[in-house]
Amino acid sequence: MLVHTPGALRAALEGSGRVGLVPTMGYLHEGHATLVRRARQSSDRVVLSVFVNPMQFGRNEDLGRYPRDLDRDLRVAGEAGADVVFHPEPDTMYPPGFASAVQVAGVSGPLDGAARPGHFAGVATVVLKLLNLAQPAQAFFGEKDWQQLAVVRRMVADLNVPTEIVGVPTVRADSGLALSSRNSYLSPEGQAQAVALSAALRAVQRAYVAGERDVAALKRTGLDVLTRDPAVEPEYLSVVGPDLREPDVLVPDPLNRVLVAARVGGVRLIDNLPLLPA
Ligand code: PAF
Repeated sequence: MLVHTPGALRAALEGSGRVGLVPTMGYLHEGHATLVRRARQSSDRVVLSVFVNPMQFGRNEDLGRYPRDLDRDLRVAGEAGADVVFHPEPDTMYPPGFASAVQVAGVSGPLDGAARPGHFAGVATVVLKLLNLAQPAQAFFGEKDWQQLAVVRRMVADLNVPTEIVGVPTVRADSGLALSSRNSYLSPEGQAQAVALSAALRAVQRAYVAGERDVAALKRTGLDVLTRDPAVEPEYLSVVGPDLREPDVLVPDPLNRVLVAARVGGVRLIDNLPLLPA
């Protein structure tokens, strides 16, 4: 069922039991389908939202050309097991006079927070609105956006939101490239060059598993791989602990992570891996 307004969403979820929410910006791929299938396992009713959230895009970013295909989204969501697709208009989410923003300090600061000022306030605001609208028992997010997941977890804990946040491992193409709606911007050549991101992450992971704990050395290993192809322009490659900050030397922790952002053919891509493989 496709609904466009908070009232219709409430009516669609009336008496539903446990609701599972999968927030997306649409142009769904296998990563999103995996989130829906995961939600299906522990929810009586699965809602997938499709909303390209203007508040999380900077002035010079790709809001206008972000890929959209609602018919395909409805098919992918239905086949994966979603019961309801919530597709509001921007004016429905941000009516005239809208004046609020959720700021999550700390985890929003480094990495993509530094590269994209205001981005995580936009994400936190829309996610809180979606959680309030759908009132899910659980909400499902891809680990590909590791920092986003950390921001959402912090917000939910800080603001006593009664929803469990479930992180789901990244889905990758056979080449290693993390699935992303923005991969549709890449040319075939760009798709091949973009494999450098996951290759760099894996090189750091291997060095960590081999015993390297010095963050500068781990970063050099990753950057060596990332910069082999001049078509890949690194923005950051960072090795962090659970607080998303870079220590000098890592203390073993399952939440230690390596994250990367780079441009390939002008397309900004992000990816990350745990330092200890699952
Ligand atoms: O990850 C995304 O697609 C978006 O950032 C989200 C969580 C749907 C909020 O707009």
